[in-house]
Amino acid sequence: LRKIIIDTDPGQDDAVAILLALGSPEIDVLGITTVAGNVPLALTTTNALKVCEVAGRRDVKVFAGCDRPLAQKLVTAEHVHGESGLDGIELPAPTLQAQDTHGVDFIIETLRNEPSGTVTLCPLGPLTNIATAFERAPDIIERVQEIVLMGGAYFEVGNITPAAEFNIYVDPEAADIVFKSGAKLTVLPLDVTHKALVTKERLIPFKAMGHLGDVVIGWMDFFERFDIEKYGSAGGPLHDPTVIAYVIKPELFTGRFINVEIETKSELTRGMTVADWWGVTDRAPNATFIGDVDADGFFDLLTSEIAKL
Ligand code: BDR
Ligand code: CA
Repeated sequence: LRKIIIDTDPGQDDAVAILLALGSPEIDVLGITTVAGNVPLALTTTNALKVCEVAGRRDVKVFAGCDRPLAQKLVTAEHVHGESGLDGIELPAPTLQAQDTHGVDFIIETLRNEPSGTVTLCPLGPLTNIATAFERAPDIIERVQEIVLMGGAYFEVGNITPAAEFNIYVDPEAADIVFKSGAKLTVLPLDVTHKALVTKERLIPFKAMGHLGDVVIGWMDFFERFDIEKYGSAGGPLHDPTVIAYVIKPELFTGRFINVEIETKSELTRGMTVADWWGVTDRAPNATFIGDVDADGFFDLLTSEIAKL
């Protein structure tokens, strides 16, 4: 059983990633921490609670984390995710509540309490909570089993500026801290998520899953609108679930262990993940940068695990 903490800003694709983790018998979700990103913190927290409720998993604990990036104003993405962050299907207000503990404290306490090297962090949004935890408690860094995150881009470059991917762009200082931390790091950038496209055929299995299936289809229909011009009938990319799929079945993915640095200075390229894919520098590798996925295998895993909920 892989023990993970999901750090997230739901977000329809975050929501599907949470469902995948909760459905998988191979994963133990120790807790969900929320962060400001796609929408402000109050909404990402409410959305995380809604997802746990619709999954029928009232036992999962949600911890609200940081409400703003380390060094700049929050940039949000209502243009992609809608005003609620989880537009596409109406869900009841959650009856569950977030825990009193701050998300950053939960991350620190969990890494200190669990045996060293047994907890994987799965960030699906800006890296503010993880960087804050690492700054406040550097002793936890070597206790992390692995960080598997969605963020960045190289060949596919940006989706929020020409150079930057949204999660890194929202908090480049936090990303810089995490990428320099020395923790084992695996990165699922746009290069791979743009190969995990939600086609009409790939949504068909969800029609047999009752209410939860309808919810997923509602989210995906909405979420895809933003990318439909780019991808046409192939459907939009399903970003965040690739992180959980990687934890469950890394053999679906291929990438390279390379040096990746975060640009924090340049006005033009701030938040860019400068990935030395071709090994043209002597900078030390710090991240496994994923470039390809068996997309059919990924969607098979997604549907079979969510069907278990
Ligand atoms: C990332 O940004 C968010 O809008 C998505 O949830 C995903 O985490 C893609 O760039
Ligand atoms: Ca996200």
